[in-house]
Amino acid sequence: MTTTITKRKFNFGAGPAMLPTEVWEEARENLLSYRGTGIGIAELSHRSPEYAAVHADAEARLAALLGLDEDWVVLFMTGGASSQAFLVPMNLGPRGDYVETGVWARKALAEGRLIGDAHVAASSADTLFDHIPTDLDWRGDADYAHITSNNTVYGTQWKDFPVTAAPLICDASSDILSRPLDLSRFALIYAGAQKNLGPAGVTVVIMRKALLERTPQTLPTMLRYTTHAAKH
Ligand SMILES: Cc1ncc(COP(=O)(O)O)c(C=O)c1O
Repeated sequence: MTTTITKRKFNFGAGPAMLPTEVWEEARENLLSYRGTGIGIAELSHRSPEYAAVHADAEARLAALLGLDEDWVVLFMTGGASSQAFLVPMNLGPRGDYVETGVWARKALAEGRLIGDAHVAASSADTLFDHIPTDLDWRGDADYAHITSNNTVYGTQWKDFPVTAAPLICDASSDILSRPLDLSRFALIYAGAQKNLGPAGVTVVIMRKALLERTPQTLPTMLRYTTHAAKH
């Protein structure tokens, strides 16, 4: 039985994102029978050429929307944005400078502390995260600098991104694709898909290919950015 949807309700919650009805209709059709083959896309092997093409197409579309060039690689990972909070220091190096602007920024900082030497470059915790700090104390020799572009709980957003000596990492979970980004400022951007891009379950990482050289070979295989980038 096919359900016809006559009226959809708008969900303005912070996640999951509401997608256009046509997107879900196409998904519904292809979940049952991918391109008329009689086999649903989720019933095909995730290593099959059919699925690989869907995956590659999604990467290419995201790259086009973000305006990425050959210097960048798009990774679709699992574990949520929360897992990137530890994967960043594990892959890029232990010394991280953090701007603490909300709960998620604080959680990233806590993960950075578990893995390495995390330093607070600035924090607005004292005023209950009511602003984005402008006085930023970056260390000259950090492996990376970490910011959260939009603070979901507090509604504060970086308007102008900082210029940092260390590669700038950005958790853009709650505003990715909501505005054009000057990519020249960034080295790696990550986002759980469920707020701005689609259903929960996939985490988007876009990173400069040059950073892949930093991944230690001693990391468990599936925790290495290089493993996820290898298929490109
Ligand atoms: C800015 C930000 N970062 C990280 C997260 C956590 O994302 P995930 O549930 O994908 O781990 C959220 C919200 O849930 C968020 O708003």
